[in-house]
Amino acid sequence: MPFIQKSNSLISLATPTSFPSLWTELLDKTIPPFVKRRFSPKDSWKDKPFVKDDLLFFSRGLTELSEFFTVDREGARLPAYFTNARFRSSYFLYFFALQGAKFLSLYEKFPLAIDAAIDHAKKTGVFKVIDVGSGPGTASFALLIYLLERFKKTKVLPFKIHLHWIDRNGSILEDGEILLNDFLATQGDWKGDISLTSETRDWWKHPKGFNPAATLVIFGNVLNESPSERTVYQQGLLPFVKKPTGGGVLFVEPAFRTASQKLGQIRDELVLEVNQKAKLWGPCLHTSKCPLAEGRDWCHFSVPVKLPGKWFKQFSIKLGGVREWLKFSFLWIASHESGPEDRARTDQDDWLRVVSDPMKTPQGKKNQVCAPERVAWVDTPPKPLLRGDVIQKEYAGPAKPTRKR
Ligand SMILES: C[S@@+](CC[C@H](N)C(=O)[O-])C[C@H]1O[C@@H](n2cnc3c(N)ncnc32)[C@H](O)[C@@H]1O
Repeated sequence: MPFIQKSNSLISLATPTSFPSLWTELLDKTIPPFVKRRFSPKDSWKDKPFVKDDLLFFSRGLTELSEFFTVDREGARLPAYFTNARFRSSYFLYFFALQGAKFLSLYEKFPLAIDAAIDHAKKTGVFKVIDVGSGPGTASFALLIYLLERFKKTKVLPFKIHLHWIDRNGSILEDGEILLNDFLATQGDWKGDISLTSETRDWWKHPKGFNPAATLVIFGNVLNESPSERTVYQQGLLPFVKKPTGGGVLFVEPAFRTASQKLGQIRDELVLEVNQKAKLWGPCLHTSKCPLAEGRDWCHFSVPVKLPGKWFKQFSIKLGGVREWLKFSFLWIASHESGPEDRARTDQDDWLRVVSDPMKTPQGKKNQVCAPERVAWVDTPPKPLLRGDVIQKEYAGPAKPTRKR
């Protein structure tokens, strides 16, 4: 029976996520009044409580946005949706909770990556987050809440936190800054120093003197909206991935094929080819070529969740049902000094990541697992393996090469 590892360094991605109560408070108590104040067309509405009737008005862009974000556009560009206030209010009421939950899940499932970031911040005195394609700062809010949870016993942050948001849309950056101030105003009993810089620009056009070094760099759902030209990667991405520091660089993308495979290609062609010393926190447990960066299948995950947020639940129902899974693809590049020791470019690893749910085959139920340069198969055990689990290598079946070098 394959052993599913649940230790600190190799946590299954198929385990449920637990959400800090502060996250629920942000979603239910801070965001609705903020949306009403910021996006009401009439002054007389602004200071009234957010009620059921507001659902309809402030979610007018929800269905359209949902299609933008979930349908594979096969590389076609999206319109600049955040110029429209109805899309921004919908984002705060629904997508913020959804995307934020993905970041929180990853922070929880990679505690060693966060520890590496915390060590770096303690040494330098500042936890600097560069949030690329930040939108309203979703990934930063999730991190902030994760860190507040980590230090809640003392209510003292042992370092400053500096958030650096980059987005092409100035309005969503402004909205996010107001929400951040609203949120921090609810945390008056904390001792800490949290600051924010926002830059309105295309993320890959770095101005002269831009410093890509950070405690953690996060690209949240932005690559699939960005062009794939070489200059974007060479000039824009390379400075971040060449020599990551602290907790490294985390990319999160939608679960659809083109977005996921783009990450696999960046991993192979940019990160591992350019940087011979690169280490990865995840999802990969090897640093050979990604077997899913092209072709029919792709690498993505589904985390079982009970998502918090009473308004979020209402919006989910409006969109077709309560959400029980978080679906996404991701890549977390570690820094040289603090990556996963046992998985440093050896490919002699004893562990494999399960990359499919159980599938019916003529030989019975099987799961696909990711091995260096190939996808292998394993018989599904009685307690089924899920996408994102980690198993010992000896349980994987014979090699089934899917692509040549
Ligand atoms: C789906 S939203 C994600 C926002 C946030 N990171 C999250 O995960 O919730 C994508 C963000 O990328 C921004 N974006 C798209 N193209 C961009 C570009 N060329 N440069 C900077 N930001 C860009 C959009 O304005 C939007 O805020």
